[in-house]
Amino acid sequence: MALFQTVETPNLKYEQPVGLYINGEWVKGVEGKTFETINPHNEKPIVAVHEATEKDVDIAVAAARKALETTWKKVTPSDRGRMLTRLADLFERDIDILASIESLDNGKAFSMAKIDIVNAAGCLRYYGGWADKIHGQTIDTDDDSLNYTRHEPVGVCGQIIPWNFPLLMWSWKIGPAIATGNTVVLKLAEQTPLSGLYAAKLAHEAGFPPGVINIISGFGKVAGAAIASHMDIDKVAFTGSTLVGRSILQAAAKSNLKKVTLELGGKSPNIVFNDADIDNAISWVNFGIYFNHGQCCCAGSRILVQEGIYDEFLKRFKERTLANKVGDPFGKDTFQGPQVSQLQFDRIMGYIEEGKKAGATVVTGGERLGDTGYYIKPTIFADVKEDMKIVQEEIFGPVCVIQKFKTEEEAIKIGNSTTYGLASAVHTSNLNTAIRVSNALKAGTVWVNNYNLIHYQTPFGGYKESGLGRELGSYALENYTQIKTVRIWLGDALFA
Ligand code: NAI
Ligand code: MG
Repeated sequence: MALFQTVETPNLKYEQPVGLYINGEWVKGVEGKTFETINPHNEKPIVAVHEATEKDVDIAVAAARKALETTWKKVTPSDRGRMLTRLADLFERDIDILASIESLDNGKAFSMAKIDIVNAAGCLRYYGGWADKIHGQTIDTDDDSLNYTRHEPVGVCGQIIPWNFPLLMWSWKIGPAIATGNTVVLKLAEQTPLSGLYAAKLAHEAGFPPGVINIISGFGKVAGAAIASHMDIDKVAFTGSTLVGRSILQAAAKSNLKKVTLELGGKSPNIVFNDADIDNAISWVNFGIYFNHGQCCCAGSRILVQEGIYDEFLKRFKERTLANKVGDPFGKDTFQGPQVSQLQFDRIMGYIEEGKKAGATVVTGGERLGDTGYYIKPTIFADVKEDMKIVQEEIFGPVCVIQKFKTEEEAIKIGNSTTYGLASAVHTSNLNTAIRVSNALKAGTVWVNNYNLIHYQTPFGGYKESGLGRELGSYALENYTQIKTVRIWLGDALFA
């Protein structure tokens, strides 16, 4: 099979790389395997891509190691920054192609995909700006010593990304790793390999030396597991399910104790108080759960509403939910497209059936939309009990539960009652309530009077079982550097 294929989306035609991008070249997998990626709108294959197995991971890691210790080391921090900035420019130049690929392969609405690309470019440029501002300290202990620290790259980084924000996750991983002087082997999600491969082509054009950025397609249990247990990978960054996150941590412990950062699932509470601006709150709650078809780790999937406004809120939130346009990702005004895959569709429908069986009330939705494509009607469950699966487990689809609370204490208690702690939100017009509740929520992010507003300058990550470490902002740089202390003795020999 060729290494490039012409692909047509509903709005353009382009050359899609389908090989593995290793050591600055497009290659086939050693075992010659390929797999198809599916268009979730019509359930038809788009194109086949080459599959990486363990041997390809080995080759990519060797290339990344060699680049780290030869060419990449000699590139100045300023030039690393310049390359990342150039890459950001190329994302912007090709925004229509990149957004089209995302919509075709992932199913997300084209207008939303464009916002992903803007943010991915912003993230790359932001970390480009950091590249020449990474430095240690000099530490004065006494007259006879000169002490300083160096913030050195961790080394070869394995990065494993999911399918819900393919290019955004690509930029969140590549940006901080490259800015700090590491080299990378990044595995794309098997459901959505196309945009990340195209981005590899842009990285090539941006001028990174061979082996610095290696991008491969492959399956989690094969290529992903090979990265997690590799003896020559110094750090692994993973975004995906909590189940796989645990296995990554175990593989790291059993192999070479590589550093691990994890960005995992969530079941985030979105809390609306009686005194909230109800129109704004409804808009944000709607966006909080249905954005990206509910396929967000930080989705506001548990909606807690204070009793004084509960009935009005539910009535109007149902109307707002019904107004969301669900359909073809390339359709005009589409807000919600299909779920990414048959498997995810089945998982979500399973939760919906589970909720019905457990006795929760379906306020709206609760079934598939149409009979082709992985479309699910936006779904609200009311009259739920705390111990129901739909209240405790991540559904990762356009499905939320709504619960009534009386007091602030009760809202905080329910808000903190799952094993997750990724995100949360508070809607209120009282500043004191906002601050008290924000302080009390056990979550890596608290949004006040908004939802899902992630910015690459501000850190993102989880409390509890939602993850380890932080991505984005200056905080992410800590995951990709290690500190070396140098102590120079200026005095006479001691203990002579
Ligand atoms: P997953 O965790 O299996 O996949 C995410 C990435 O991990 C993919 O690149 C996959 O190839 C890789 N992977 C899978 N098994 C692996 C292994 N044993 N070793 C190394 N890498 C491995 O997630 P999946 O099956 O796509 O979705 C299942 C659930 O995970 C979703 O319903 C959702 O609840 C959660 N999820 C959370 C995401 C987030 O943004 N935090 C993103 C995607 C899924
Ligand atoms: Mg696909």
